[in-house]
Amino acid sequence: MAHLFNRNVLLGVSGGIAAYKSAELVRELQERGAQVRVIMTRGAQEFITPLTLQALSGHPVHTELLDERAELGMGHIELARWADLLLIAPATADLVARLSAGRADDLLSTVALATAAPLMLAPAMNQQMWKDPATTANINTLVQRGVQIVGPAAGLQACGDVGPGRMEAPAIIADAAGSLFATGELAGKRIVITAGPTREALDPVRYISNNSSGKMGYALAQAAVDAGAITTIISGPVNLAAPKHTQVLSVHSAEEMLEQSLRLLPECDIFIACAAVADYRPVTIEDQKIKKGPEEVTLQLVRTPDIVATVAKSSPKPYTVGFAAETNDVLAYARDKMQRKGLDMIVANDVGDPSIGFNSDENAVTVLWPDGQQALERANKNTIARQIVHLIAQQA
Ligand code: PMT
Repeated sequence: MAHLFNRNVLLGVSGGIAAYKSAELVRELQERGAQVRVIMTRGAQEFITPLTLQALSGHPVHTELLDERAELGMGHIELARWADLLLIAPATADLVARLSAGRADDLLSTVALATAAPLMLAPAMNQQMWKDPATTANINTLVQRGVQIVGPAAGLQACGDVGPGRMEAPAIIADAAGSLFATGELAGKRIVITAGPTREALDPVRYISNNSSGKMGYALAQAAVDAGAITTIISGPVNLAAPKHTQVLSVHSAEEMLEQSLRLLPECDIFIACAAVADYRPVTIEDQKIKKGPEEVTLQLVRTPDIVATVAKSSPKPYTVGFAAETNDVLAYARDKMQRKGLDMIVANDVGDPSIGFNSDENAVTVLWPDGQQALERANKNTIARQIVHLIAQQA
């Protein structure tokens, strides 16, 4: 059974008799570890009530594009960004036509345009409608755009016809969704990822640190596992559960992070430095808690070791990917950082916008390598991570 651990699946249900099977599909997706939210078209609500899918998914079902209350909660753009996958099952002939034409005339078709997540369709319609040249052309257009199609299955249809057009079984659709992430493009590669902040101690109870949550690094680790890599996270202090099938080494300071990185180096094919490592640490760590004293005190700091630059200088060297958190001239600074640190790739992260980057669920980055670059539009960190891992697999 393909897994969907830590994946956000947005299930779109359109108006066909197979809509009743979407209840079972919610369960199949959840059994594979997915978080599921549901959008229903108006037609779908004629076949199954939103209440059923709300009860099963544990979240309110989204139905309207122009709904003030819904937009105040999780609006259509938030839904589009939340999704790691938009799975539409059943996808009727009408919906397939609207998607192929790029229409945005209801919530589901609008989210399909607005999301950076992959789109998977499980078509369901009368066999003659499926065979119609218009439907064939629409499906071909969508396939050329990278849309994944599961099914349809053949057999006896609700209308009494026999032939292709039945929605594929929910378990098969859920497995297809899982295998979408299991790319295998880094099968057997050993990947080490630094994640989270470092803490540089001042005394037994105080430290210098930053707002990194570890979400970006942990999302990269999940994407690396899905790509088939043997994945280790060297993690600063974070409040996150380790993705399944990863090894997590917990550290506090930059010095400890360097020590673990160098220890793993002989067994590392790809090194990704996503951690927000403190550039300076206090010169001395007091044994006792520092007492309140004069109005002003001066803290003397010293540079920490540059972990990713040290890794990039090693021989033999893993394919080394750094991040660059910048607030201005982001691409120029990032390219300069890549060259100075001897990196093979750098992910430029504009952290001037507080709604992305540090401690948020979303990000927007540009990935640079010596003779190319690619911008990754704003999306949740899982989607960004999957795209970064794909670029690494292409370039490494
Ligand atoms: O953890 P999240 O809340 O999800 O946020 C993600 C993030 C914003 C932390 C992440 O996307 C990010 O941008 N990480 C890099 C942050 C950073 O410290 O950037 P920098 O430009 O200061 O460092 C450049 C590179 O050198 C980074 O790869 C960093 O890991 C590395 N470095 C820096 C200093 C040091 N002493 N050793 C290092 O290895």
